[in-house]
Amino acid sequence: MITCRHFYVKSHAVTTPEINLKDLPGSAGRLDILARCINASFWLSHDIRRDVVFHTILHGEPSPPVYIRFEGSKLRKVSPDERSIAIFIKKAIERIKEEKEIESTPGIFVSRKNFERLIKEHRDKKYYLLVEDGKYIEHVEICNEPFFFLGDHKDLDDDEKELLYEYDAEPISLGKRSYLASHCITIINWLLDRKFCRE
Ligand SMILES: C[S@@+](CC[C@H](N)C(=O)[O-])C[C@H]1O[C@@H](n2cnc3c(N)ncnc32)[C@H](O)[C@@H]1O
Repeated sequence: MITCRHFYVKSHAVTTPEINLKDLPGSAGRLDILARCINASFWLSHDIRRDVVFHTILHGEPSPPVYIRFEGSKLRKVSPDERSIAIFIKKAIERIKEEKEIESTPGIFVSRKNFERLIKEHRDKKYYLLVEDGKYIEHVEICNEPFFFLGDHKDLDDDEKELLYEYDAEPISLGKRSYLASHCITIINWLLDRKFCRE
């Protein structure tokens, strides 16, 4: 039985609250990709997956890193469309405090945490790095409280991958084809539902 699913998507989106909501794929640094990944992580038809936690670090200009965490058990008021998700990311960036993590809106937390700190803080969980040439997911035992790591339109850097391997991350693959990150999340959620959710 799986208690909670974690997803991390590295984002190259901008770190200013001056986000043009009409240009998420352009001037916002592919914020559309991140919004779709968040949609794929949480939304069912007329429901939200309360057992999912989604993490991202925005790496774009002008002031990276911005770490944002969405907790399904506490999320309120966010709608599944890209615009609504982007509005809540904008609010998180607007309200960030330099010295400590804050809950910018219900279920959304923001801070200046970097990747190394994030990995250290969650080392009690089992890490799975999504890479096309990893071990086929159907041949991998998915442990309690799995934590999946994905790139957006670019992969994670080599030093980020190395760090994950130092924490015993397992490289796993959905096959040789390169899928969109949001589609990978949908596939993982579906595979885990098939395995663990009977109702
Ligand atoms: C759109 S892909 C990145 C594309 C490409 N690797 C690049 O850098 O141009 C986004 C992310 O989805 C994941 N991914 C895509 N296809 C996958 C597959 N077949 N198996 C495992 N992970 C995959 C990887 O984590 C990848 O970084």
